[in-house]
Order: sequence, then structure tokens, then C-alpha cells
Amino acid sequence: MTNEGPMRVLVTGAAGMLGSQVLLVVPDGIQVVGTDLTDGSGVEVAGVDLADPDAIATLFAKHGPFHGVIHTAAYTAVDKAEEDEALALRVNGDACGVLARRCAADGIPLVVVSTDFVFDGTASTPYSEDAQPNPVSAYGRTKLEGERQAFAAHPTGTRVVRTQWLYGPRGKHFPGTILNLAKDRDSLKVVDDQTGSPTSTLELAPALWDVLLKGESGIYHAACEESCTWHGFASALLELAGVEGVEVTPCSTDEFPRPARRPTYSVLECGRLAALRGAPLAPWRSALSTYLGS
Ligand SMILES: NC(=O)c1ccc[n+]([C@@H]2O[C@H](COP(=O)([O-])OP(=O)(O)OC[C@H]3O[C@@H](n4cnc5c(N)ncnc54)[C@H](OP(=O)(O)O)[C@@H]3O)[C@@H](O)[C@H]2O)c1
Repeated sequence: MTNEGPMRVLVTGAAGMLGSQVLLVVPDGIQVVGTDLTDGSGVEVAGVDLADPDAIATLFAKHGPFHGVIHTAAYTAVDKAEEDEALALRVNGDACGVLARRCAADGIPLVVVSTDFVFDGTASTPYSEDAQPNPVSAYGRTKLEGERQAFAAHPTGTRVVRTQWLYGPRGKHFPGTILNLAKDRDSLKVVDDQTGSPTSTLELAPALWDVLLKGESGIYHAACEESCTWHGFASALLELAGVEGVEVTPCSTDEFPRPARRPTYSVLECGRLAALRGAPLAPWRSALSTYLGS
């Protein structure tokens, strides 16, 4: 990184749920360039398809130089990826390789946002950063391939940040869906046999900046502290949002078959991030309460 002039950082997926939040918490002294397929507030360069290596080259040539990249863009349609793994692979896998080669050539750090879906979910204790991945879905395979290509191309500058169960002020997510359903219904069935940690983008976005600016290469797990099932998440959400008169009934994954398999248990052990920042992300319930009040 250079000490001359402001530090310029490229943020991909700038119109997305996480990327848009990353743009709202840019540390002092940093100039950010947001890019996405579509336009949105904070998206300076729209229409860049990261699955196209030439588009990435043009982006760097026209809008660089950059001193760091936070890569949040991804093919995130988990069920659709089962039918179109080739496209998901180009976006989630190959684009990481292209970005990483470019970052390696420029000698700049690259933060790649990844997922708990790289794990098979058969564990019963939290997955550490060096636990063995074994994805059980097309989405998980393509995200793991992105990690692999980034590390292969840029071993000293790549920081992979795996997160899970995201929600936040922008975009479509579980709490938004549940609160909408609760307007029209007096009972909801919610899956009670998948366990993870709901993670607010309000908590995660500042952590991504810390990983970029103070972190080292390698893998960081980044999720809110403590865990629950989707049923537990929905129940806490309605309670904290003050919604009354809606019964939340637990059900099994088998009752709601989906094209892509989900890990049954995907709690992440986030010790490396906590050591970097001096504290872990907030416990999921208090992060949820902060989000509802925001
Ligand atoms: N959501 C979760 O629960 C979760 C959990 C773990 C990890 N993650 C990871 O967190 C990151 C952010 O996820 P998110 O939930 O914020 O997803 P999101 O809202 O879908 O944002 C992703 C953004 O990437 C863009 N994009 C897709 N294909 C692209 C392409 N070919 N070129 C350029 N941009 C492209 C999308 O544009 P379009 O909308 O126009 O396609 C979207 O704006 C992703 O890496 C995801 O894998 C998410």
C-alpha cells in the first residue's frame, strides 16, 4: 500500500445487502469505489460483470489504481445455483481468481467474502478456520472454489472472511420475510433443525474494513456470537419487534424441501477475528435488537 494520497479501495457488490453496508462505514481517509452489475446508491461504476475478465481489467484501468479490494459480489441464489452451477462457478469461482491475480500484480490486499456453506454441517461443535470444508451444494462448491483460486493466485494478500445467516438494512433476508408474513398470518412454521448464527451486516461491515486494513492473509470466520435455529431466530425477532398474536411452530427441513441442501449445523468459531479486533462480533440477539432499532 502506498502512503501517498488517499487510499482507494474497490468494493464489489456495492448494491447488495452486505456491500451497500460496507460503503456506509468507510473509515476516515479512505476513498471508496463501489461497483456492481446494477446501479444503486453508492455504486460509482455500474454494469461491471465480474464473470468477464476483460470487464475487471477495464475497471482497474479506468478507475484504479486501488490499494485494496473488498469483494462481496457473488451469485447468491443458493437454490438456482443447483441448476446453473456453471454460471455460479464463473461468478463465485473464476472471478475471484481474476481479481486475485490483479491484486497480486498490484501488491494489494484482497478480502473475499465467503460462506458457512463450504462446510457439510455434520459437526456438533463450532467450525474453526482450519476445519476441513466439504460443501454439500453447488453454491457451496463454487464459493469454496473462489477461496481456492484467490489463495492460489495471491497467497500473501488474500483474506477470506466466511460469514453466515446475513441480514441488514438493505436487501432481501429472513427477518424481512418473517416480519412481512407476520402481517397477514397468525401462525408460521419455521425450520428448527438447522443451527447457525444470525449475523447483522451492521456488525460485519466494519469487521471487513478491519480485516482489510489490519488483517493478515488467511481465513477469518465472522459471525455474531451464540447460535440458534431458524425457529429460534424467528421467535426472537417477533418478540424483539413487539409483534404479538403470531404463533411460531417448529418444523423439520424435510417439511420444506428445497433444491439445495443446507448444512445442518454451521456455527463458526470466530476466534481469529476477535483476536484481530480485540472483541468478537455482538451476540446475535443484541445485534438483532440494534438492527430493529436502527
Ligand atoms: N446472505 C447471506 O446469508 C450470506 C451468508 C454467507 C455469505 N454470504 C456472502 O456474502 C456476500 C454478500 O452477500 P449478500 O447477501 O450481500 O448478496 P447480494 O445482496 O445478492 O449481493 C451480491 C451482489 O453481487 C452482485 N453480482 C452478482 N453477480 C455479479 C456479477 N457477475 N458481476 C458483478 N456483480 C454481481 C449482485 O447483483 P444482482 O443482485 O444484480 O445479481 C448483488 O448486488 C456474498 O459473497 C455471499 O456469498 C452471504
